[in-house]
Amino acid sequence: RVLVVDYGAQYAQLIARRVREAHVYSEIVSSKLSVEELLAKRPSAIILSGGPSSVYEPGAPQVDRSLFEAGVPVFGICYGFQAMAQALGGTVARTGTREYGRSALAIQNSGCLLEAIPNTINVWMSHGDSVTKAPKGLQVLARTAGAPVAAFESRERKLAGVQWHPEVMHSQWGQQVLEHFLFKIAGLTPSWTPDTMVSETITAIQEQVGDRRVLCALSGGVDSAVAAALVQRAIGSQLTCVFVDHGLLRAGEAEQVKEDFVRATGVDLVVADERERFLGALAGVTDPEQKRKIIGREFIRTFEEVARQLESDRGIDFLVQGTLYPDVVESGGGDGASNIKSHHNVGGLPDDLQFTLIEPLRAMFKDEVRQVGAQLGLPEEMVHRHPFPGPGLGIRIVGEVTEERLEILRRADLIAREELRAAHLEREIWQFPVVLLADVRSVGVQGDGRTYGYPIVLRPVTSEDAMTADWARLPYEVLEKMSTRITNECEGINRVVVDITSKPPGTIEWE
Ligand code: XMP
Repeated sequence: RVLVVDYGAQYAQLIARRVREAHVYSEIVSSKLSVEELLAKRPSAIILSGGPSSVYEPGAPQVDRSLFEAGVPVFGICYGFQAMAQALGGTVARTGTREYGRSALAIQNSGCLLEAIPNTINVWMSHGDSVTKAPKGLQVLARTAGAPVAAFESRERKLAGVQWHPEVMHSQWGQQVLEHFLFKIAGLTPSWTPDTMVSETITAIQEQVGDRRVLCALSGGVDSAVAAALVQRAIGSQLTCVFVDHGLLRAGEAEQVKEDFVRATGVDLVVADERERFLGALAGVTDPEQKRKIIGREFIRTFEEVARQLESDRGIDFLVQGTLYPDVVESGGGDGASNIKSHHNVGGLPDDLQFTLIEPLRAMFKDEVRQVGAQLGLPEEMVHRHPFPGPGLGIRIVGEVTEERLEILRRADLIAREELRAAHLEREIWQFPVVLLADVRSVGVQGDGRTYGYPIVLRPVTSEDAMTADWARLPYEVLEKMSTRITNECEGINRVVVDITSKPPGTIEWE
């Protein structure tokens, strides 16, 4: 496996994903590990990532020279490149030219790393310091206006480095550069696929669980579905899934869990039909935060009741969680501090129910989870579903939540999804809330008469991680179809508007 040493910023995750896309398994490790600790993990290669530090800053992470003498191939990127240059006796200096964003890279000598790449390419840079003199024995390959030494390599010593970020999509030939390091310089073979992970995970679950019982809460989202399917593959009927139907899901979603998911996996499913309970608790409530609290509270109560019942019937020892690798890395879990985020998916369980967690996705990225889901035979719509908030349609009705309004919103939402799919735009849109403004009415005309109806808001956005988002520029023809169908087919709706606010200042959801 390849270890990606994390010097901060978000780049390490992206590098690890790109290495896996090249079919080599990779993991992120902290820059606080010593050379001995790194080598003890028996890496087949090491990548030093970029980071926000300057090698001059006091306390900036340094790399010990012995790392480069252990015979393990090393690739330095951005900060990692500079730290590598400094450790090996090169010169890093403030050239006075900072480069942020796109730069033209001139290749003087392609070496192995830049083989078969055009002489000038655009690369993505983010640095203040530059390597001005390469360490002895390393061949200089390229430069940019602000970086006299922008890449170097030594094939014999299996070392290489680049000043730019080959992992970001704005860097041309980035994946090739990374693969040249992995295959030509480090001599690795591309043999890893997410399948490998599936079989390893299944074995690990079987060993961990033995003949004991496991519980999993299904939300209808992709993570819990894939986690449950994997555990089911490993231990079959020792797993029980609980699905709380709170009546706030979109059209077809509850059925997908109750029928398609069960058919695809053979899982033992307990459905708690609690639609009346949730609607009752939400009656008369219009404040968004209060809605969230009520939905969260009722969800936990229901889950508790079901879990207690199951526990007294058959005993439960383990709880499945759909924690992903980015959560593990962000909570420092890569260094052995696991379970920091325990229970976040089920929103806090009663203290007297003592479960051990099983997290079958904790080594996977979201796109790998989708691949694994497809491979386990889960329904396509489930695997490629857009993210959907826990409180569901409850926070997409501005105003009081009633069954009648939910029915209208489900219909409008379904139309938007159908038209998006018909236009083959599902994968380009990150999320697409459809919102009913139940507190607003406007005058319209339909058929022969005046109407006084409610507006529907379309909120398609593009995003990478939901922290920031931009409004999606959907083609007018697609918007037109959605608008015509929604006003024709949804009782009480006489107006459709599109939200063209980015985040910030808006949020993705309206409540
Ligand atoms: P906002 O609206 O804050 O949403 O831009 C960012 C992302 O979080 C989702 N979201 C939620 N997810 N429970 C959830 O599980 C919630 O209460 C909740 N509120 C917002 C939202 O759908 C978007 O993907």
